[in-house]
Amino acid sequence: MKIFIANWKLHPLKFKDASALCAKISGIKTKNKVVLCPPLPYLPLLKTKFELGAQNISAEKEGAFTGEVSAAMLKQFKVKYAIIGHSERRELGETDFEINKKIAQALENKIVPVLCVGFGIQKDEAEEEVLGHLKRQLQEDLQGIDPKKVLVAYEPVWAIGTGKPATPEHAERVAMFIRIQFKVSKILYGGSSNAENFREFLERQIDGLLVGGASLDPKQFGEMIQSK
Ligand code: PGA
Repeated sequence: MKIFIANWKLHPLKFKDASALCAKISGIKTKNKVVLCPPLPYLPLLKTKFELGAQNISAEKEGAFTGEVSAAMLKQFKVKYAIIGHSERRELGETDFEINKKIAQALENKIVPVLCVGFGIQKDEAEEEVLGHLKRQLQEDLQGIDPKKVLVAYEPVWAIGTGKPATPEHAERVAMFIRIQFKVSKILYGGSSNAENFREFLERQIDGLLVGGASLDPKQFGEMIQSK
């Protein structure tokens, strides 16, 4: 069984389109684990047999934090997963300290954190340096956290939304490194995965995919989640 996490980001613009996309994906038969992460307002309204996830959660539980939504609130709306530390949020200034607090909030509320790492990595960087970078990120993000309860998505920032994925060999070596060093439960790859290239990743020691662009195309995402 593989894991497919659909990160819809800030799409689709209209709820009726989100609902239609959700219905199409939900009509697909699969033994794999599928998690849909729509924009927040759609979350309580979508009907699906698959699991639901948030794209972000607050580092705080409750209080004077304008614009925030906490894990304790989300869990009341069947949210079982939360993407945490996505590079598009790190780009906005999210720190490893905050990410660590978010992971703790998720776990306290029985939400599985999907920790994204790979922000700040250069495409031409030597693999050794990439691993050093990831090690520092993971050490801070997972401080005081039981790693067995966390899913990690390796998403080299240069591969996200560019149509230029990492090589499956590189993704696998990184996944093995994270698995051995940090003992996390599962490791996914994310960054321009699609119906054309997904098999090459899943053939390797990679537990699944965090899919952005291709998850908005039911035909393509459907093909991906049906993989055996
Ligand atoms: P992408 O996005 O598949 O569109 O590259 C992946 C992600 O941002 O999680």
